[in-house]
Amino acid sequence: MSTSATPPLSPLTITFGPGNATLEPQGQVLTRRMSDLEGLFVDGHAWRQAVVDGDPVVYTVVSSPVPEVPRELPQSITTIYPGDTGGEFWMTKGHQHPDPQGEIYLGLEGRGGLLLFDGERAEWLDMGPGTIGYIPPGWAHRSVNVGDEPYRFLAVYPGSAGHDYGWVLAHGMGLRARRGDATVELVPFGAPASASDNPTRPQE
Ligand code: 6PG
Ligand code: NI
Repeated sequence: MSTSATPPLSPLTITFGPGNATLEPQGQVLTRRMSDLEGLFVDGHAWRQAVVDGDPVVYTVVSSPVPEVPRELPQSITTIYPGDTGGEFWMTKGHQHPDPQGEIYLGLEGRGGLLLFDGERAEWLDMGPGTIGYIPPGWAHRSVNVGDEPYRFLAVYPGSAGHDYGWVLAHGMGLRARRGDATVELVPFGAPASASDNPTRPQE
């Protein structure tokens, strides 16, 4: 989310920094640690353990100076680090845009997925460098790193769209992305964490 420039903006160029990890000029930088993701991983015990074991950075969001105000078109780069918690791949919180408008993602580095949910139907889009993922109006969206390297993408979205994180907590995302034998395994959102991930996990 970007609030660093005051409209009207003059025309400008924005360039990628080293490794496509930053923007120049740059606005706000958000850092999401494991402790910021409470209630999002199905395995709450594994989540709590990860918080205790160093509370790692799961993802960052670097914005350009274009502000989130009507008629502007802000951009940001999200970098999701590789990992899983209780077998569930590291991911963004996920959100719905209260003012339903489309959004585009452009894959820059690594291997990821774009999980979309409209409240009834869930869709999974494979994402990688050079892939454009289109998020139609009204679809909640969450990004997932399914590889061994940081997964990075550029997002471009209408400045009036807003962000609703409560919607995902209330409605879920339809599917979860788990580490499978060779690739990503998509399971129903409510499926329990597999016992083999946490042999010492106490019975609930
Ligand atoms: C947006 C984009 C994108 C997103 C980040 C972090 O609407 O701004 O979808 O920039 O915010 O990838 O994801 P969360 O906002 O779900 O934490
Ligand atoms: Ni969005």
